Amino acid sequence: MNADYARDGFLAVPDFLPAADCDALQARAAELAAGVDPRRTRTIFSTRDQGHARDRYFLESGGAVRFFFEAEAPDQLNKIGHALHDLDPVFARVSRQPKLAALAREIGLADPLLLQSMYIFKNPGIGGEVGWHQDATFLHTTPITVTGFWIALDDADRENGCLMALAGAHRGPLRQRFRRAGEGTAMETVDSTPWPTTPPTPIEVRRGTLVVLHGLLPHASSANRSARPRHAYALHLIDRRAAYSADNWLQRPDFPLRGFS
Ligand code: FE2
Repeated sequence: MNADYARDGFLAVPDFLPAADCDALQARAAELAAGVDPRRTRTIFSTRDQGHARDRYFLESGGAVRFFFEAEAPDQLNKIGHALHDLDPVFARVSRQPKLAALAREIGLADPLLLQSMYIFKNPGIGGEVGWHQDATFLHTTPITVTGFWIALDDADRENGCLMALAGAHRGPLRQRFRRAGEGTAMETVDSTPWPTTPPTPIEVRRGTLVVLHGLLPHASSANRSARPRHAYALHLIDRRAAYSADNWLQRPDFPLRGFS
């Protein structure tokens, strides 16, 4: 495994996705967005507000392509998720290219499955913040294997809300689990160890950079208060050999997960 990734819990790979693929994802997302009627499909998505979680629209999105809006601007898209990689031909092609399969193997996923995909808008002046969290809180396996592939579709820096990470803190425990509870969901604290006091590292990257995120790495991003967009495409992978938790919010009983082939 890459030594920087093992030490820091994240790894930025510049020039990973060719400009033509970045263009294709942005054009396809714009096309999908143009077909949305916000009055019909509006579900406010904000990680600070768990009220949305009661909405079946969200709970069923693990096997669908659904649209989520900004908490502070309900007519503006926050993201599209969470099965673009299986259901949309453009996203499927980019998500299952051999280069991504090779990277998954390189960082230690022996038998990777593509679990979840998100197109994140974070539009200028509108895109909201995402608070500190570990991805294994939302996508839990035993042992923990969830790994994020986050691809910058615009240059990302501190002004437009780039990723922030607590380098090395992936060696700490999982703090919370977001699980199904009855018809809705619940956030449960499983370890109250505070985040380490390490200063956050801004992961400032150019368009086309892929950032690998360990499932236990605490990360966040600020609101986009700049005049520039900060679009990104995020994929989450797990290892088929790990046990997928039956109470994870994302369940696909009738729609089996697939690897890269
Ligand atoms: Fe995350």
